[in-house]
Amino acid sequence: MVELTADALLDDLGRRMLKRRVDALKSLPTFPESIVRINNLLAEDGPADSLQKIATLIETDPVLCARVLRLVNSAFYGVSGAIVTVFDALLMLGLDIVKGLILSTSVSDILGGRGATLDGLWEHSFGSAIAANALGKTLGISRCEEVSAAALMHDLGKMVLASQMQDEYRAVVLHAKHKAQTIRVAEQALLGVTHDEIGHWLVLRWGLPTSLAEPIARHHEPSKSLKFTDATAVVHLADLMIRAYAFGFPGDQVMPPLDDFAWKHLSMTHEKLRLAVRRMQDDLHSALANMNLISGAK
Ligand SMILES: [Fe+2]
Ligand SMILES: [Fe+2]
Repeated sequence: MVELTADALLDDLGRRMLKRRVDALKSLPTFPESIVRINNLLAEDGPADSLQKIATLIETDPVLCARVLRLVNSAFYGVSGAIVTVFDALLMLGLDIVKGLILSTSVSDILGGRGATLDGLWEHSFGSAIAANALGKTLGISRCEEVSAAALMHDLGKMVLASQMQDEYRAVVLHAKHKAQTIRVAEQALLGVTHDEIGHWLVLRWGLPTSLAEPIARHHEPSKSLKFTDATAVVHLADLMIRAYAFGFPGDQVMPPLDDFAWKHLSMTHEKLRLAVRRMQDDLHSALANMNLISGAK
């Protein structure tokens, strides 16, 4: 592949070529059918009999099945080796944990896992999920696990661009650095498309629910969210919280502006923010200590 510089990307020909490449992302693999079906069942929050259906579906996917059993049998739950069926594991773990596990497994498997994209982006995404959970709990937001899953995927578009257009996206990162711009501004200037647009498009294509699609699409413009405004505002703030904590690398070193609408919508105060940040720090430390537990079961 030709090595492109930021300047080269700015000419018309380069931009047209990149737009074609973005269109060509349609050839990305679609979300595995089993995950879409499990996610739909989970979204229903149905009665206990749907647990058996979910267990049956998980058993058709060896990677997921291994992860669920490994997690439930880990020392963390104190039943080492005792749980051998997915159904019992679901009873023990609860649907929220399983939902988070399935979504994070799916995204990292499809995109090739950590290291396949921009260095530090996985940590930024993971840290944002922790921050969103901490903020959501501090504010008493419902369905924190789902908000956390949306935060985990909020920069999905960056993961896609960085893994599918490696040279060009490296040039975008360099451009942002040299111009002291946010990565989003650099993406618009060089690629004519931003990571939130790409992420939104992909999540819709994969058939994931609007509760995830909206925070991903609008995390930089939360006032444009229509239905899941709480979740979108939390993801917006979580992105800034983890940036301020300097955990991971989101592709730039410029803090995007704090959205006034999000702050007011969540009735934020500096005291609430301070509490949420402290919770985020504690959760991040214990999550990192348990890291192998969650991510190692391939
Ligand atoms: Fe973003
Ligand atoms: Fe981000």
